[in-house]
Amino acid sequence: MFESVIYEVKNNIGYITINRPKALNALSQAVLGELSQAVDMAANDPEVKVVIITGAGGKAFVAGADIAAMQFMTPTEAYEYALFAQDIYNRIQYMPKMVIAAIDGYALGGGCELALACDIRVASKKTMMGIPEVTLGVFPGFAGTQRLPRLVGVSVAKEMLATARKVGAEECKAIGLVNHVVEENPVAKAEEIAAAICKNSISAIALGKRAINEGMEMELKKGIEHEAALFAVSFTTEDQREGMTAFLEKRPANFK
Ligand code: CAA
Repeated sequence: MFESVIYEVKNNIGYITINRPKALNALSQAVLGELSQAVDMAANDPEVKVVIITGAGGKAFVAGADIAAMQFMTPTEAYEYALFAQDIYNRIQYMPKMVIAAIDGYALGGGCELALACDIRVASKKTMMGIPEVTLGVFPGFAGTQRLPRLVGVSVAKEMLATARKVGAEECKAIGLVNHVVEENPVAKAEEIAAAICKNSISAIALGKRAINEGMEMELKKGIEHEAALFAVSFTTEDQREGMTAFLEKRPANFK
């Protein structure tokens, strides 16, 4: 259906694969447009409980925004390009479903920023992540300056920004940039995590993810109050009745 993005659904997992291997899956406007549609399809499909985002070709997750497409952009065009990508990435972060990035190779610039918008990151040993935009006379514009320091801390983020250094998989794990490093096939590890997620209450996960997302943007006391309000909402769900009844009846819960 798309040219550079593959969208498939199997076993309650929505797979979004950036498929432009000749340009190391770089994000042109056309690719971003397809990614945007695929994200909405996954978000709106009731069959999809977890989303996995990956890159085709075995060399890169995504090597960044498309440098050739940006070369002659005006400031206004650059602003619109950034806003468009930021909106997609926000829809990933705030989607009421877990989104896992399966990273096999380079995740640079806009590709690193795409991975940052996901909830969980799994990387293969050959993965290199970084925000090398300052080598091009610009800096990250797809929310990297905002999400990276929130994940790895201000000092590590500033060092990565200013040195443009590509960080290897093991170091990514050590600084909290990825959750898991696997020898190869990060999609298989992402599927294992997705299978564990799918056993649990998807409505409760959505509320819990929202509490974390929104709470991280509040002062602690407000975040804790917000958690209580969302906790109450979980008591309006069938899953709450089923989960607690199943526990007390000593049987596995049968969530819809
Ligand atoms: N945009 C456009 N094309 C890209 C690309 C990108 N970000 N990254 C790689 N490509 C293209 C190359 O131009 C090359 O195309 P040709 O075969 O037509 O020449 C092809 O992909 C293969 O790349 P290389 O030959 O460079 O492969 P390599 O193995 O020698 O190097 C690499 C791999 C280190 C990832 C190198 O390609 C590279 O440094 N890429 C750019 C990384 C980068 O700077 N990303 C940030 C982009 S700016 C950004 O993302 C801004 C933002 O925040 C919004």
